[in-house]
Amino acid sequence: MKKILCGVVIALFFLSSCGTSVSHQETAKTGNNGKQEKSSKKIFTQVDSIMQLGDKISKDLLQSLQKELKKNLQEGGAVAAIQMCNTQALPLTRKIEDKYHVRIKRISQLYRNPKNKPDSYEDQLLATVDYHYGATKEIKAFTNFRTLDGEDYVIYYKPLLVKGVCLKCHGDVNEMDGKVVTKLKELYPEDLAVNYHEKDFRGLLSIAFKIQEENK
Ligand code: HEC
Repeated sequence: MKKILCGVVIALFFLSSCGTSVSHQETAKTGNNGKQEKSSKKIFTQVDSIMQLGDKISKDLLQSLQKELKKNLQEGGAVAAIQMCNTQALPLTRKIEDKYHVRIKRISQLYRNPKNKPDSYEDQLLATVDYHYGATKEIKAFTNFRTLDGEDYVIYYKPLLVKGVCLKCHGDVNEMDGKVVTKLKELYPEDLAVNYHEKDFRGLLSIAFKIQEENK
C-alpha cells in the first residue's frame, strides 16, 4: 500500500448495506496517454494488498451485520430483524466505512431496496459472475479498476451466497412466515429479493478504494 492512499471516495459512490446508494456516472477512460498507463501499472502491482484489505473489511462488516441479525432474530424474530436492517445496518456500515476510508455498497440484480439497484456496468458484472458461478460452481472475490467522474478507483467485490438463515427473508414466499411476508410487502412493495435457494448467488459487496498517487 505504499504508493496508493485509500482516500475518501466522492459522495457519488455511496452506500450501503441495508441502506442507500445513489447512481453514479461512469466516464469512459480516454485514450492511452502515458500518465494513465503508468498509474494503472502501479495499481496492478498493488492488487494483492487491495484483495487482503477488501477481505478484511468485508469480514469486519459482514460479521457486525450478522451479529446484529442473529441477536434480533433470537430476541424478536424475523420481523424485528427486518426492522433492524432498516435502522441499524446503515450506521453499522458507515462505521466501517469511516474506519477504513472506503465506500461500501451491496448490489443485486434481484434487489429488495431499489437503492441497491446496480448501475448498468454493475448489472453486467453481476450477470457475468452469476453465469460463471452457474457454469463452474466456483466463485471468489475479485478486484477491478474503474473510472468514475474522472476519479480512479480500485473496487473490491465479494460475492454473497444465500445461506439457510437468509431464507427466512429471501426464501420461497409460500414457505416464509406470513408476518415476514406482510412486513416485507409493506416496506418493499417492489421486492425482487425472494424465492432464492441455498447456495444461490445473491449479489456483490463492493468496496471502493480511491486511488491517489503519492508523488502526483
Ligand atoms: C430478517 C430478514 C433478513 C434476513 C435473515 C436476511 N436479509 Fe438480506 N435483506 C433484508 C432486508 C429487509 C433487506 C433490504 C435492506 C435495505 O432496505 O437496504 C435486505 C437486503 C439484502 C441485500 C442488499 C440488496 C437488496 O436486495 O436490496 C443483500 C445482498 C442481502 N440482503 C443478502 C442477504 C444474505 C446473504 C442473507 C443471509 C446471510 C440475508 N440477506 C439475510 C432482510 C433480511
